[in-house]
Amino acid sequence: MAETYEGAVDRGLEGVVACTTGVSSIVDATLCYRGFKIEDLAAHSNYEEVVFLLWNDRLPTAAEYETFTQELWASQSLPVGLVETLKSLPHKGVHPMAWLRTATSLLALYDDQAQNDDDVSRKSVAMRLTAKLGTLVALLERIRQGKDYVQPNTDRSLAWNFLYMMIGAEPQSEFVKVLDTCLILHADHELNCSAFSARVTSSSLSDIYSAVVSAIGALKGPLHGGANEQVMLMLQKIGSVDGAKEWVTKALANKEKVMGFGHRVYKNGDPRAKILRGMSQELCEKSGKAEFYDMSKVIDDTVQAEKGLLPNVDFYSATVYNAMGIPTDLYTPIFAFSRVSGWLAHIFEQYANNRIYRPRGKWNGKENQVWKPRS
Ligand code: COA
Repeated sequence: MAETYEGAVDRGLEGVVACTTGVSSIVDATLCYRGFKIEDLAAHSNYEEVVFLLWNDRLPTAAEYETFTQELWASQSLPVGLVETLKSLPHKGVHPMAWLRTATSLLALYDDQAQNDDDVSRKSVAMRLTAKLGTLVALLERIRQGKDYVQPNTDRSLAWNFLYMMIGAEPQSEFVKVLDTCLILHADHELNCSAFSARVTSSSLSDIYSAVVSAIGALKGPLHGGANEQVMLMLQKIGSVDGAKEWVTKALANKEKVMGFGHRVYKNGDPRAKILRGMSQELCEKSGKAEFYDMSKVIDDTVQAEKGLLPNVDFYSATVYNAMGIPTDLYTPIFAFSRVSGWLAHIFEQYANNRIYRPRGKWNGKENQVWKPRS
């Protein structure tokens, strides 16, 4: 284990305030985007309006919303050449987040504004990335099923289109609403690991695509966005409500981490988990998967009782996505599809007040080594 030295923060920069930000804030158990409580946004807004809010620091007027959604929705389709290239890539045994990371990087090669550093080009790149990430994830699922790319309907929302492009048929309106709420809940989260990665990369004045690809790589890990997929795998492994308490107790006794619990910042609960718990209960019951919600509740109660840890955003989002029939390994790519809007807000903020991130490392390696020729 790395030692902690005076003046060095070896333990995940805990407690370090790395920058000022006006994008989102966490105070105790209250999460706000641009000063608006997440509960209000989840109840009254929609994802497109939230994206506008994150990028512009205010809600849109009706006319602005109209123009913004028109441009965003019109940007959902993929360049033909890119679709063909993506079809030719390996996908069997490839994690969808690895595929998405590569696909996003390839997308940059089809964007003639990718390297531009003026505000207008950057906003336009941001529109395309936000609009196309869901299309990429849906396309991956089509490719895996040996089916054709479905063109988005540019009159419909990102949530509607994601489900439409994935299943190739009109989605249920209830599922569209649920997915839209999930997109709102996942859109930003202060200086989380992936947003920080995006900011670090953009602080070298690298381009937006590079920063977003860095962020996708960070989100992929099981301690960050990858936890939602692990939650579902855990529930499937446990298999029944009866076995849940014993399974979790044993895991905790073995010092294993129970995915979807704990948080670096929230110590009194994640407000997103509360909203998702209600959604999970309703949706699991309606879709005949009540057992997954019941199992989750037993795990939730057990982890709280034994370890004092509360569920985070990933815990109940897993059963929400499962009840909607979304393949388990697409949960984290859907997180990326939403979170890209927050990453972009952070990237804009970084460019607007930039200084390259360049911390120091306190030396704890060998000293005075003398080179000798190989023997
Ligand atoms: N299951 C069991 N124990 C957990 C735990 C979990 N999910 N999360 C934290 N703990 C325990 C740690 O083992 C540690 O116990 P110890 O003091 O006995 O050693 C203590 O709680 C502090 O945890 P730590 O890992 O230092 O917290 P952190 O701030 O570094 O990490 C997370 C935060 C989110 C990475 C961590 O809680 C975790 O790994 N959770 C599971 C993955 C997850 O759900 N990630 C999504 C986050 S939104």
